[in-house]
Amino acid sequence: MTGAVTAPRRWDPLVRLTHWSVAAAVVINRLVTEGGSQAHVWIGLAVAGLLALRLVWGFIGPVEARFSSFPPSPGRALAHIADIRAGRHVQHRSHNPLGALMAYALWATLAVTIASGIAMTGLPPKIHAEGGEGPPAAAATAGEAGEEGEEEGEDEGEGEGEGEEGAAEEIHEIAANLLLVLAALHLVGVAFETRRSGRQIVTAMIGGGDKPKEP
Ligand code: HEM
Ligand code: HEM
Repeated sequence: MTGAVTAPRRWDPLVRLTHWSVAAAVVINRLVTEGGSQAHVWIGLAVAGLLALRLVWGFIGPVEARFSSFPPSPGRALAHIADIRAGRHVQHRSHNPLGALMAYALWATLAVTIASGIAMTGLPPKIHAEGGEGPPAAAATAGEAGEEGEEEGEDEGEGEGEGEEGAAEEIHEIAANLLLVLAALHLVGVAFETRRSGRQIVTAMIGGGDKPKEP
């Protein structure tokens, strides 16, 4: 297989749809919406739905999309690194073994982000006033509590940031930051693989086939 470029890779519509909507939602929730606001929570829950859809697709979708085509395997990842170092070009039908590890890492981190978010809001989600867009009644109560006495006033600062919810908040923040770090590494990986293999892998994720560069 070395050096041989076979059929161009094409991702099916569900993989493309879930990829780009999850990517957009993560960027929006990390950089645009206010943490805990109504928009933030609903976008986060939409990501949960898209992730669930993609994970089911990993069992029943077309062969390239199946987990069995890109198992998480450190051994294969090391072999892939050896291929890169030796300048060998091995064709992989689905994600290459390093890309596969990144896909699982991204999905796992997304799952932790979503689960910790839900741990804070419950289901159906209760949007807190601290989230920025809480219901006016709740905001008013929080305000009054602050004025009523020192004890409540102090409570307001940390409020529900203690105990279980505090832990969930901490985990949520760490996971959301890790998600951005992984996404940045993912982009480096995509750029590197495009350059190394000459295959248009981004085009394949957008909708066309990934045509190899003509020699
Ligand atoms: C795409 C996934 C998500 C990302 C990238 C994300 C990211 C973030 C970030 C960066 C913060 C601010 C953390 C801080 O500085 O304190 C935050 C806060 C928050 N997020 Fe998310 N989030 C996501 C999904 C969710 C989901 C699914 C829920 C709930 C169902 C949720 C509920 C919250 C809440 C309640 C806060 C406020 C925490 C506080 O009180 O400080 N998030 N999120
Ligand atoms: C926060 C942003 C992003 C996240 C969370 C993310 C996540 C993922 C995941 C989970 C996969 C595996 C897809 C699957 O099998 O369903 C993937 C693949 C891919 N992503 Fe992203 N992605 C992000 C941004 C981007 C961007 C901006 C680009 C384009 C420059 C991109 C290009 C690709 C490509 C080309 C693949 C397929 C790689 C291959 O051929 O093996 N991603 N991404």
